Amino acid sequence: MAKENVNQPHNEDYEYDTLTNDRLIKDHDYDGIRELDNDLPPWWKWLFYITIVFAIIYLIRLFVFHADDLVQDKEYENVMAEAAAEQPQQDAAAFEIVLLEDDASLASGEETWGKICSACHLADGGGLVGPNMTDNYWIHGNTVEDLYEIVEKGVIEKGMIPYKDQLSPQKRLEVVSYILVKLQGTTPANPKEPEGEEY
Ligand code: HEC
Repeated sequence: MAKENVNQPHNEDYEYDTLTNDRLIKDHDYDGIRELDNDLPPWWKWLFYITIVFAIIYLIRLFVFHADDLVQDKEYENVMAEAAAEQPQQDAAAFEIVLLEDDASLASGEETWGKICSACHLADGGGLVGPNMTDNYWIHGNTVEDLYEIVEKGVIEKGMIPYKDQLSPQKRLEVVSYILVKLQGTTPANPKEPEGEEY
C-alpha cells in the first residue's frame, strides 16, 4: 500500500515522509518515530458500516417490536418448552390416572373406541375377540389404573395389543374412562359370556 502513495497530491493538513512520501499524522512524533496515516481498507470499512446497520435493526426489533426470540426471558421459555416436548417419558411419569367424566374427554374416548377398539370389543362393548366391557366381570381388575395398564401394556399372548406407542397417555385415559362411564352397565345387542371375576 505504501508505494501507492508516492505520487499522491500533498495536502496541507498532513506531513509526508521525505523518503517514501507516505502520509504521516501531523502531531504524532515520539522520539522521531512517526505514525503513518493510511486509509482503512475498504473491506474493513464496509464491515464496520454493516455492523452499524445490524445494530440498528437489532435494537429496533428488540425494543420497539419486542421480537420474541431476542427477549431473553422469552428465549429461555422457548428453550424450556422445546426441552419439555422432547421428554414425553417424564411427562408420562407425572401423568395422573384418574377417571375423566367431562363430555369432551368421553367424546374423544368414544372416537378412539369406535376407530380402534370396537374391532375386537364391538362398538357397543358386547365383546367379540376381546371380552365384554358392559358386564361386571373383569380378567384384569376394574379400576381405572387396571384398565389403563392393560391398554398401555396389552396382553399380547391373548390378542390384546399394547397401545403405548399408538395412543398418547391422555387418549388412553379417555378411552378407558369411556368404557367405565359409558359402556359399563349397558345392555349390548350380543353380549359375550362373562370372563374373569365378578367385581
Ligand atoms: C385385536 C383385538 C383387540 C383390540 C383391537 C383391542 N382389544 Fe382389548 N382385549 C382383546 C383381548 C383378546 C382381550 C382379553 C385379554 C386377556 O384375556 O387377558 C382384551 C382385553 C382388554 C381389556 C381387559 C378386560 C378385562 O376383562 O380385564 C381392556 C380394558 C381392553 N381390552 C381395552 C381395549 C381398548 C381400550 C382397546 C382400544 C384402544 C382395545 N382393547 C383394543 C382384544 C383386543
